[in-house]
Amino acid sequence: MAERPRRRIFSGLKPTGHLTLGNYLGAVRRWVEEDQYRADALFSVVDLHALTVEHDPARVRRLTRQAATLLLAAGLDPAHCTLFVQSHVDEHARLSYLMECTASDGEMRRMIQYKEKTARETDHGRGVRLSLLTYPALMAADILAYGTDEVPVGEDQTQHVELTRDLALRFNQRYGPVFTVPRATRPRVAARVMDLRDPTSKMGKSHAETSGIVYLLDEPDVVRRKVMRATTDSGAAGDVRYDRESRPGVANLLDILAACTGGEPGTLAAGYSSYGALKKDTADAVVETLRPLRARHALLCADPGQVEAVLRAGAERARELARPRVDAAYAAVGLLPPG
Ligand code: TYM
Repeated sequence: MAERPRRRIFSGLKPTGHLTLGNYLGAVRRWVEEDQYRADALFSVVDLHALTVEHDPARVRRLTRQAATLLLAAGLDPAHCTLFVQSHVDEHARLSYLMECTASDGEMRRMIQYKEKTARETDHGRGVRLSLLTYPALMAADILAYGTDEVPVGEDQTQHVELTRDLALRFNQRYGPVFTVPRATRPRVAARVMDLRDPTSKMGKSHAETSGIVYLLDEPDVVRRKVMRATTDSGAAGDVRYDRESRPGVANLLDILAACTGGEPGTLAAGYSSYGALKKDTADAVVETLRPLRARHALLCADPGQVEAVLRAGAERARELARPRVDAAYAAVGLLPPG
């Protein structure tokens, strides 16, 4: 029997802010610990996506380099996976246009992140960029260009991956079987890490209020302070229960603790009789989880040439992989191939 080809994994993160504990527990940790070893995995700093909201060019450049450095510091190994910057591979933008020709205006407007971000931009008195609406077409292109089977993401990206599936199916039905239909995979716990101060909203890297956000490069004492000041729920102090609906603050801490220590949030809850003890153990667990990453980040910063070399080789391989499929998609929709 013919050997089954290796599964293909693709995922990305956008350089719109410093990476957070949410990015790490929801996505990056799995890329590092599992995905890169069990499949042909590609990971990208998706810089084109950072241009969908008002941005400072120098900051995007800096955050792109920092995100790539952090991903290597977290443990992505170029011997086992491909790491690259999205804008270095033209196929993403090329295919995005075909995805815009496959998707409908209504589908794009239904995206939760579009609605949320439109509200935020409007609140700040800024115009909404057209690219914010078409963002999911570019994201679909990112995924479909590589024949991706699995997309490891946090919960907030599920809707975008569902849309990508719909677009792949629709395209294949109309024009022939060009794309693999991907599926999202989520972590066992901490698929949606919440803001420590406002546990009803997601811990997001581009939020203005930062006291409830743990950044991967926060100093240990800053991490401790943020966790110790986390909003817990009113209710009898000492009553530590895992209930995301009625106790979102405590549940968030238990999720984080479970993700960092490998336990189960519900089981861990039984071991606590006070919020203070839970916060202290969670703070310690987060600090220990981030410690090696911070140390490796410092080493890599001293050798920026190493990161650049990884990104150059990554983009080369990504281009080689994406080109034939994007060419096939261009031919399938009726565009005359260059002679
Ligand atoms: P981004 O940059 O917002 O987030 C990167 C990854 O981190 C996850 N994540 C979280 N997980 C748990 N709790 C949180 N609070 C949290 N915050 C973020 C996200 O789910 C994501 O997996 N549109 C994507 C980037 C993207 C992409 C792609 C992803 C562009 N093209 C193709 C996968 C495949 C985004 O904005 O992720």
